[in-house]
Amino acid sequence: MTLDAVTDFIHANRDRYVRELTEYLAIPSISALPDHAADVARCAEWTAAELKRVGLENVRLIETPGNPVVYGDWLHAEGAPTILFYGHYDVQPVDPVGQWESPPFEATVRQGEIYARGAADDKGQIFMHFKAVEACLREGGRLPVNIRLILEGEEEVGSTHLDGFVREHEDELAADVVVISDTPMFDRGVPSICYGLRGLTYCQIDVRGTASDLHSGSFGGAVANPAFVLAQLLAQMKDRGGRVKIPGFYDDVRPLSDAERAEFAKLPFDERRYRSELEAPKLFGETGFTTLERLWGRPTFEVNGVLAGFTGEGAKTVIPATAMAKVSMRLVPDQDPAKIGELFEAYARKVAPKTVDVTVTRMHTGKPWMTDFDNPFVRAAGRAMETGFGQAPVFNREGGSIPVVATFQEVLGLPAVLFGVGLPDENAHAPNEKLDLGNFHNGIVASAALYREIGALGG
Ligand code: BES
Ligand code: ZN
Repeated sequence: MTLDAVTDFIHANRDRYVRELTEYLAIPSISALPDHAADVARCAEWTAAELKRVGLENVRLIETPGNPVVYGDWLHAEGAPTILFYGHYDVQPVDPVGQWESPPFEATVRQGEIYARGAADDKGQIFMHFKAVEACLREGGRLPVNIRLILEGEEEVGSTHLDGFVREHEDELAADVVVISDTPMFDRGVPSICYGLRGLTYCQIDVRGTASDLHSGSFGGAVANPAFVLAQLLAQMKDRGGRVKIPGFYDDVRPLSDAERAEFAKLPFDERRYRSELEAPKLFGETGFTTLERLWGRPTFEVNGVLAGFTGEGAKTVIPATAMAKVSMRLVPDQDPAKIGELFEAYARKVAPKTVDVTVTRMHTGKPWMTDFDNPFVRAAGRAMETGFGQAPVFNREGGSIPVVATFQEVLGLPAVLFGVGLPDENAHAPNEKLDLGNFHNGIVASAALYREIGALGG
């Protein structure tokens, strides 16, 4: 089998790929919303059927206490390494749905980009590998490498059951390297291989003042206002220079080396364009660090949402009984998400006044991950990107999290190659999520090249 024949096959099937991807994107597999449980299940079934269609073997759903993991493999490349491919078939909620220019589950192509929830994160990117496998098997009857695929349905809600799954299914996961396509590339026209991800600690904080909402005239002045207390509490999490004030928060932060900072500075990052595309009046982050350093190499504290009191039209004079916020902290090596959760909770309790009850619920965590990118698999991935995109990739870190990557490293001892082809402006988690079809297409060619490159490394 020559890569040329596979590439020709891929080029000849461009339109079919988009039609099939459209079908996949039509399934609203929103893991965060219980109302969509049946859609998540249907999406797992669709994924399994697709794995069979492309020629994978031993395809099955493996049950977990949550959503099933879809498994498939092809293990006939004797003497060649085995790839463990990981991705997710669940997607984020679509709200605010009114801001979508086309319905989130009716994929629409505009100017070479396909718009739908899950287009980039992550259905489009896993589908790219399904099609690369298909092209190799149809064109040559075999793959140049062994491959096992696992697709999970809970990534967007913290991969709650995946750690247990990895520990329980070590045999089915035996491999030499993990491959994941669930990250953006550095920029349009700048393919990249990602060597670091931030971790995460996600918490909910509930403040209760009284048993019931109160008339703010009759009671204002006599009791604390939970919305105000919550605002004061949140305001104490960071100083004006963007530094997190939780005691001990920075204790385990691995400092950025001068060498890495110099590498970041060499990347083609246009800060003015970045700011203006975001339409932010001014950028903001921790004093003493560049934007890329803040995004990739420094931890943050973010408020994800706040809920309190009357927010409808008009005016209502009320003291709300409760206030709630969802907060999360992005973490870097060597911070431990569980320890950070404890530090946050202790600090929140300490700064909360006695006038209210405060409850902190730790929701989920993910460990930060970073790899030495001077290994043969990452080098192979670099060559494959170059085959697909006609250009050598840069090496970057990312601010987002994929919790299982650290688990693969710790439990299975596997290095990971983050082979993403999304773009930073593709609106993941936001309205009008999209995927550039040129990158999708080049990504299929690059994925087929990746299998060949890793296969050529030998067992
Ligand atoms: N595809 C993202 C991860 C990602 C985003 C990596 C941007 C690099 C840059 C993934 O689907 C995701 O959204 N992960 C969640 C994990 C969380 C729920 C534990 C995230 O980062 O918020
Ligand atoms: Zn996501």
